[in-house]
Order: sequence, then structure tokens, then C-alpha cells
Amino acid sequence: MPSRRIKDGVYSVGAIDWDRQIFDELIPLPQGTSYNSFIVQGSEKTALIDTVDPSKTQILLDNLEELDLSIDYIIANHGEQDHSGSIPIILKNHPDALIITNSKCKELIKYFLLIPEEKFITVDDGEQFSLGNKTLQFIYTPWVHWPDTMVTYLVEDKILFSCDFFGSHLASSELFVSPDSIHIPAKRYYAEIMMPFRSMIRNNLHKLKDLEIDIIAPSHGPLHSDPQIIMGLYNNWASDKTSEHVLIPFVSMHGSTNIMTNYLVEALIKRNISVKPFNLAHTEVGEILMDLVDSSTIVLASPTVLTGPHPLMANAAYLINALRPKLKYGAIIGSFGWGSRMEEELKNMLHNLKLEYFESVLIRGLPREEDFRELDKLADKIQEKLQELDNQS
Ligand code: FEO
Repeated sequence: MPSRRIKDGVYSVGAIDWDRQIFDELIPLPQGTSYNSFIVQGSEKTALIDTVDPSKTQILLDNLEELDLSIDYIIANHGEQDHSGSIPIILKNHPDALIITNSKCKELIKYFLLIPEEKFITVDDGEQFSLGNKTLQFIYTPWVHWPDTMVTYLVEDKILFSCDFFGSHLASSELFVSPDSIHIPAKRYYAEIMMPFRSMIRNNLHKLKDLEIDIIAPSHGPLHSDPQIIMGLYNNWASDKTSEHVLIPFVSMHGSTNIMTNYLVEALIKRNISVKPFNLAHTEVGEILMDLVDSSTIVLASPTVLTGPHPLMANAAYLINALRPKLKYGAIIGSFGWGSRMEEELKNMLHNLKLEYFESVLIRGLPREEDFRELDKLADKIQEKLQELDNQS
């Protein structure tokens, strides 16, 4: 990606990663990503805001060479290497440059990148720093995504450089978000990266609410020229409000759990309840995580393998527990051959979630008529609870 002007003295100099398919060897990136980096050129000094993933350092270097600038400061909003990883090479090329960051981020960068103490300037929450005719203000926003995260506000131009906050894993030639196309990538990003930190996100949104912002420039995905859209989405996702939607991650080995899942899905549809099954053997995990962002109810459907849940279900339960979605209700259904401790094991795995559980439906072998009646009862109970939720909203 070539460098692009955002406003006078403000340039985007980062890199698009069109081909990256997975992040942290965990998070699928069906639409690639970008590592955005920005230049703010003041009348006296020039700052580089965040860098790029080490795999794309050369693109950043080419963009900086094209602008022919001397960098005085590197602003590190976050220590994760997709933003900090090119700092050592920038320091090599601009040996007088200093890193401006907060104390937590400094500690991370020192250890991850082996940069000596004397290269850092540490700033406090709310502190301002002059580049001449442009002023940077640093605002601590912990846990979007690590404890070290902060955002940088360019006072005169009303631009918020938000690093991971408000980002999306979307490789796009568009510098600014198209409002029609950002909802899904932003929601996927929120689900995969931000969801565990809901209460901290609410605090950070509150902290930013009085700031006059014309542009939000995150370090992944396109920029937001209408900040209210993405901030509104975050306010909604991070709130306690859930939708009357049921998701059913399921896996089946010999068909019993599949029959149960299909039956329950139809029973819920008959009751006008929004429901979506996800076959764990085929579904890309990001699809499930997006559905978790605002759903109220989850039904885990699995056969028993060696007394516990199928490993695909155990893996999903581990991830769901770690990401702490705002689910309210849960149920476990599935099958076994000669015995099962699946219910107890799955509930233990989901210990972070404060779920109110419906009675489990666990059957031996293929479902019989009385088992279908139990699934009908489960559908009735779910309907009852979702009706209560609806009445409360
Ligand atoms: Fe994009 Fe937490 O790094």
C-alpha cells in the first residue's frame, strides 16, 4: 500500500496484508488484514504512530522513504508485535528517534524487542506532547486489547489513532470505511479480539465520549470518517443487552446428536425463535464467535467421547469460556453409548459464564419418542425465558 494523505501533515504509511489467513495461529482472517501506521508531521517534529507487523516492514520503509522524513518520535500505542514489531528497524534507520509510550507498554516492548531503557519517553494518562503546530494527547485505554493499550489523539485535526480499538481485520484498498461493508468485519473483530473485555470497553467508551473526533484511525482495517457509527456499534456490543437468539454449536459422530439438533432447531423455529446451528466439524470459528456477541442462549450439542464431550466441542467450550460472551441461558444435549460425564465436564469448562441452565437432554443411542418430547420441553422453556427477556427490554 503506498502512503496516502489523510490531512495536511498526516499520512497513512502502513501495509495491507492481503494474504494473511490466520492470526496468532488461532483467528481466521477470511478478508486478510492491514497494519496501519501513521505519520504526523508538525512544524518542529515528526512522529510515527505505531509501526507494522515485521513481515511487512519493507512496505513501511518504502513509504517513509517516499515521504523523505526524519522521524523524531515513534508513538507505541500497544506492545503487540503486529504494531511494535518494526520499531527496531525504524530506530536503526532513525537513530535519534525516541519511543513515546506508557509505562506498561514500555515494559512489554523492552522484553519483546530488546530495546534499551534510554530509548523511551514515558507519558501519563491525558498528557499532551507538542510537535510544533500539532499536538498529540495520549489517553490510556487499557484492555483494548492488552493491559498496555492507549490511544493517541491529534488535537488540531481531531483524529483519534486508536490502534486495535475500533479495528477490523479487513484488507481493503479503501482508506476510509464504506458504512455498508464494515459491520460484519468490525463485528468479527470485536468478537475475536475485544469480547472478553466488555466492561473495560464500556469504561473506555465513556472516557472518550466528550472528545471531539472527526476521524478514527485504527491500526487494522479502514479508517472511520463517521466515528459515531463504529462507536454506536461498540456501545451496543459491549452493553448487557442480549438478543432473543439461540445458537447451537453441534457435532455428531453417528447421527444421534445431529437428529436431536435438527429436531430442536425445528422446534424453536415453530415457536418463532431465532436460531442458528453450527456444525463444529465444518464451521470456521469466527462465524460462531460473531453469533456469540449478542446472543442470549447457547445449546451445546455433542456425543460422548471417552466419557466427556467430543474434542471439537471441548475446544469450542474452552474458547467460548475464554471469550466471556454475555450469554444468559445454556443447555446441553447429546448422546452416549454406555455412560457420560459430558454435562458435568462442559459446565466446568464454561465456568466463566454465569449461565442459567435448562435441564439437559442426554440420551442413549438414537432418540426415541420420549426423547423428542424432552426436546419439545426444552424448546418451551427457552421460549418462556426469551419471552421474559423480551418483556424486560
Ligand atoms: Fe493488533 Fe493487539 O494487536
